[in-house]
Amino acid sequence: MADIVCVIGNKGGTGKTTLSHMLCQGLGMAGQRSVCVLTDTFREPLDPKGRPYLIADARAGAALHKVVAKIRGLHAWMGVIDGGGNRTEMDHHLYGLADLVLLPFRDSHEDIRTVIRDLEMFPRAYAVPSQWPSWYRGTADATVREMLRPYLDRVLDPVFAHSSAKLLLQRKAPERIPEPLQKLCTNTARQVLELLQIDVPWHAAPLAEFPNASREPDLRFAMRQ
Ligand SMILES: Nc1ncnc2c1ncn2[C@@H]1O[C@H](COP(=O)(O)OP(=O)(O)O)[C@@H](O)[C@H]1O
Ligand SMILES: [Mg+2]
Repeated sequence: MADIVCVIGNKGGTGKTTLSHMLCQGLGMAGQRSVCVLTDTFREPLDPKGRPYLIADARAGAALHKVVAKIRGLHAWMGVIDGGGNRTEMDHHLYGLADLVLLPFRDSHEDIRTVIRDLEMFPRAYAVPSQWPSWYRGTADATVREMLRPYLDRVLDPVFAHSSAKLLLQRKAPERIPEPLQKLCTNTARQVLELLQIDVPWHAAPLAEFPNASREPDLRFAMRQ
């Protein structure tokens, strides 16, 4: 049966939509089939053409149930549901049906306070540092270590900020995925596959299309040690 990953959190702009697409892109690059599910009524579905994953529109009330049931029935697929934000009821619903729940948050006290509330509310969920500073990450990491101390085992490796991230959210798929973005996508997918204990033969991935895709994991999040 397919696994369902939900990207939620009671705050807009944290990077839920970007993370959902990065994850699907990374999964696709690894040869893992996935569907990115849109639930945000303020967003239009993106064009799936040229993407290594499918896109499903579950904005209408009953559509989510149908889409999830359909994905569940697919063997060796993964559903990634982009929660939309500021919708506590929807977040609870998605939490209930997910095999893995991701809560992106940015390097700000406000985001961290919100993610703490969400981690309390959703005890199986993992927090994902999102749009993380890569050059001067020391300060950001220190803030997390201090404010999220009781939850550090539930904080995943960061998804670093990169200007190319927005390419994935263009309606038409980008013709080329820049190498840094490939790496962000690959690392995101690798963490998720690890958490779900899914063994994807990375060497068998269709890397020909992505000659520069990294096969090695990035640095583990320093705060885990
Ligand atoms: N890793 C990243 N690097 C750079 N910009 C990012 C990254 N993730 C998200 N963003 C930017 O942050 C903004 C909010 O992201 P989005 O995914 O739409 O958040 P949400 O879906 O939670 O509202 C967008 O402008 C997006 O391009
Ligand atoms: Mg969004």
